[in-house]
Amino acid sequence: MSEIESVSAVEILDSRGRPTLLATCQLADGSRGQASVPSGASTGAAEALELRDGDRERYGGLGCLKAVDNINHEINLALAGEDFSDQAALDSALIKLDGACKKSRLGANAILGVSLAFCRAQAAQGKQPLYAHLAQMADAHHRLPIPMINLFSGGAHAGGQVAVQDVQLVVPTAQSMRRTLEVTSDVFRAAANLTLDRYGTRLLTADEGGLAPPFESSEAMLQTADEAIEIAGYRPGEDVALTVDVAASQFYADGRYHLDGVALSSAQMVERIETWAWRFPIISVEDGLDEADWAGWRLLYERLGKSQMILGDDLLCTNPARIERAISSEAANSLLLKVNQIGTLTEALAALRLARGAGWQIVVSARSGETEDDWLADLAVGWAGDFIKVGSITQSERLAKYNRLLYLEQIEGLPLRD
Ligand code: PGA
Ligand code: ZN
Repeated sequence: MSEIESVSAVEILDSRGRPTLLATCQLADGSRGQASVPSGASTGAAEALELRDGDRERYGGLGCLKAVDNINHEINLALAGEDFSDQAALDSALIKLDGACKKSRLGANAILGVSLAFCRAQAAQGKQPLYAHLAQMADAHHRLPIPMINLFSGGAHAGGQVAVQDVQLVVPTAQSMRRTLEVTSDVFRAAANLTLDRYGTRLLTADEGGLAPPFESSEAMLQTADEAIEIAGYRPGEDVALTVDVAASQFYADGRYHLDGVALSSAQMVERIETWAWRFPIISVEDGLDEADWAGWRLLYERLGKSQMILGDDLLCTNPARIERAISSEAANSLLLKVNQIGTLTEALAALRLARGAGWQIVVSARSGETEDDWLADLAVGWAGDFIKVGSITQSERLAKYNRLLYLEQIEGLPLRD
């Protein structure tokens, strides 16, 4: 049992310089946990609500003082002195206290902060590393996930120079996290030199630390990734593969996909993705269609579902009801798991279990707005995610997670998923 003495929060800044919050949970036995909450830019319509102040005098309305205040007062008042047997008990108390659809009253950012801080406090109470505590909660055999590492960005994560949001690297044959990052670094450097030569501009990095040169098209972005793999001395598709986050909801309007200057129907968008999958060493397509285009998703699944991960982010929003629909209608075969899309650890675990039960692959994901907190690495390990997606190998808020994985591999001896 874990009696809560207090919960509290402060407003801090994320990797885009926007406010978020850091929550603390103090247990009566002296154990303590802290966690900070990430924030997305290309958010799905079905996500739980991130409460922002709306006061344009502060951070253009993005302040989190109301969410902080909700933790410091209403949530603290409700939880202090209460004894919770486990994470599920705490999370259900939070959901009940909020009482609103999408956690819009207290804010999903406030609720998730407390959910995570309590989890860390319980791990401390049990004198366990966070990943081991999370593995116990999920009844999972912990192992290191395979990283999907950001190389190039467009869309909402960069200047919008091309429609497709992210192209990532996967090193399928690497036997270790250490080797994965060595290979990735070789390809990243080759890509940086190639794009510098080709586009002649000072290299700008996008929100997740990927390179964002002014590609003329999404194809050029994929083509350059393919070339960079070869220049670095690796075989595309064998040594290093690509994954793509199309983030198609971002360029879907009036029934058309506005892809780099052309307006495509849903069927044409599916054809375009098929062409990419045929031309480039892609193993996973995330959000290839708009979040409401269920017919398009089914068509994509029918065409590519046997050979590719059809990965749902905005489509699913880590929401069990949406995952259920995608399973029964055969619209996807992989889940992008972002805990702040749903708002508590318990609900995120339910989403994961549902997807796992259908034989899906799980990609545990950060948000484009992150902090130096590394809890996500432990979550991906403890819940035995197949993949982890936290951005590029630049920028400390991304490296906090990779460095934690490197530590767990080298000091705690955890194996990489095979
Ligand atoms: P977001 O993007 O965190 O900006 O929503 C990440 C993603 O789309 O996977
Ligand atoms: Zn996405």
